[in-house]
Amino acid sequence: MTEEPPIAVLADDTAYAEAVQLAVDSAAAYYADGTSTLDDDAYDRLARGIQAYEEAHPEAVLATSPTGKVAGGAVVGDVPHTVPMLSLDNVFGAGQLADWAISLERRLGRPVEAWSVEPKLDGLAISARYRHGRLTQLVTRGDGVAGEDVSHAIGTIVGLPARLAEPVTVELRGEVMMTASQFEAACLKRQAHDGTTFANPRSAAAGTLRAQDRPYVCELTFFGYGALCHSGDTSETAARLRELPHSEIMAWVAAQGAQTPAVTDVGGIVATTLEQVQERVEQIAAKRAELPFGIDGIVIKCDLAADQAQAGFGTRAPRWAIAYKLPATEKITKLLDVEWNVGRSGIIAPRAVLEPVVLDGSTVTYATLHNASDIGRRGLMLGDSVVVYKAGDVIPRVEAPVVHLRTGDERPIPIPQVCPLCGDEIDASQERWRCVRGRACRVIASIGYAAGRDQLDIEGLAENRIQQMLDAGLIADFADLFFLTREQVLGLERMGETSTDNLLAAIERAKAQPLSRVFCALGVRGTGRSMSRRIARHFGSMDAIRAADAEAIEAVEGIGPKKAPGVVAELVELADLIEKLIKAGVTMTEPGWTPPAAPGASAGAEASGASELPLAGMSVVVTGAMSGALEALTRNQMNELIERAGGKSSSSVSAKTSLLVAGEKAGSKRAKAEALGVPVVTSDEFAARVATYLQPDL
Ligand code: IVH
Repeated sequence: MTEEPPIAVLADDTAYAEAVQLAVDSAAAYYADGTSTLDDDAYDRLARGIQAYEEAHPEAVLATSPTGKVAGGAVVGDVPHTVPMLSLDNVFGAGQLADWAISLERRLGRPVEAWSVEPKLDGLAISARYRHGRLTQLVTRGDGVAGEDVSHAIGTIVGLPARLAEPVTVELRGEVMMTASQFEAACLKRQAHDGTTFANPRSAAAGTLRAQDRPYVCELTFFGYGALCHSGDTSETAARLRELPHSEIMAWVAAQGAQTPAVTDVGGIVATTLEQVQERVEQIAAKRAELPFGIDGIVIKCDLAADQAQAGFGTRAPRWAIAYKLPATEKITKLLDVEWNVGRSGIIAPRAVLEPVVLDGSTVTYATLHNASDIGRRGLMLGDSVVVYKAGDVIPRVEAPVVHLRTGDERPIPIPQVCPLCGDEIDASQERWRCVRGRACRVIASIGYAAGRDQLDIEGLAENRIQQMLDAGLIADFADLFFLTREQVLGLERMGETSTDNLLAAIERAKAQPLSRVFCALGVRGTGRSMSRRIARHFGSMDAIRAADAEAIEAVEGIGPKKAPGVVAELVELADLIEKLIKAGVTMTEPGWTPPAAPGASAGAEASGASELPLAGMSVVVTGAMSGALEALTRNQMNELIERAGGKSSSSVSAKTSLLVAGEKAGSKRAKAEALGVPVVTSDEFAARVATYLQPDL
């Protein structure tokens, strides 16, 4: 699944010494505060190059070399570990995994009967010491032999209780990390405090764990991956933990009240064959994108204590476990340019143009730069090497420049002084800059969007026509289209009788579009096609939408507390436009809408409603080219069809997907669905299933 990173080739002792220095510096930064001067792939390449050179030139090995050292020889703390906190060796694909398993079985002289397969959590290793059931000390991994005391973080880590269920003396080992929502909250807190944010969840967790006197507290999460007792401990617990299979130790940890990956979609399983191991590896990899926390691989361990004991440990890592690495989510590439785009609502947003780089399975060429002040804060320059982060469905983001890779040729990023689209002033009073003309700045684009195929579907209204009408003062927004007279349209240049009549007929037809499309046409920020359908289905009428406050808007699935107030505020801004639409007789209700069942309504009432629809409760993804009855449908129309039939449409396949409709040339989504065991149907099979919901006029 994953390719093995090539090795850095080191020519001579000087190149070797430089490589060692670079690796040591990079590891030090990574373990100190999560920042990195090398991305993971580059570090792996370098480390392998160093190792290869040392094998060929054993006489040249430097004492500072990271080879064979835990954490690349980084930060040494002053709290000795009872049992060293080791690292894991890596494999980069199914072939290497099989080779590793075979050589382990050869060493044991017997087949491994049970493997534990679990996620490799991308956080910071921690040892949590419990005495008689009470959490007394937290220690980081450090150099593996001794770590740093971070007990001040006790009480801020979800999943790491102050007291266990039993009064046992035990050390829990696991990973401390930030979930997506914890990361968002932490960024907001830091932003409010000093105007900066964290680069990514991993470095936020690292900084937070070590921070002692921050005036604000950020929450962290713990997932355990092991439990052990001191070798001299003669208690019953110690004896049990020494004998239990890893999977049962994990169940014991969970029973004590500490969190393990079992509570997630990627909990550990026991596999008895290598095929099953590989299958689980693929399942976990396929779920990676949807997880609310980072994983950078899958850990495969001998489950049985006897196998572990016999396999034993190398200097750096156990021989009974291996990390199957997944493709990096963070890489270093070049910042080639910064583009300034003006959105439909007048927001001016910078976008980074990058030297293309493959991240988490897709090629990234553009990445978000948030806003203008962010560029200054991060000290970015054109030509910089930058760290780019992309995991799962998140929009790729530029984190920071790698200052030590600067050549001196970098140039400042030009910051626009006026709106790059219309030349008017910029309102820079908020974090997100906006053209003072607001949505009027993009009036042509806004009207074009409203008239588009997936919104009001007004055929024959090209941009040059809109421009003509604006220039002639016939319209100022898209609602004015509905008040155009035949004479006015005929009076425009190059407008004959037939095209005038066709255009006016198309405008007339648009009045009958359902509320979902009319609402979408408004172009409210954060409400695209599918969100507009959800809003329309939730409220049923424009009146109800406009009457809703932020809290009521939040009841729509997918609208969080951050987005809701913006929707309410924009609807107020759009009041005149909406009034005009109402006056014109544009549809302001959603056909077939029924009020949502009151809480506590009988199950019978529900059964007679939505759940009778053929796709009730299903999450459906469409991929590839449709054929037959569905051939002419746009993706948006397919999504509308799915929702009419009671389902939910989604664009990405996950474990929660109920059905994949795969047309011709279906690619990776089909493969992913198959790996996850999601049912797949053809375009024709799907058409038959939803036949009564196919409208002839679609
Ligand atoms: S077991 C004795 N299991 O990955 C070996 N480690 O790159 C103990 N990690 O130091 C490691 N998830 O901090 C193990 N499910 C998991 C893990 C895991 C993340 C970390 C751990 C380890 C590092 C090695």
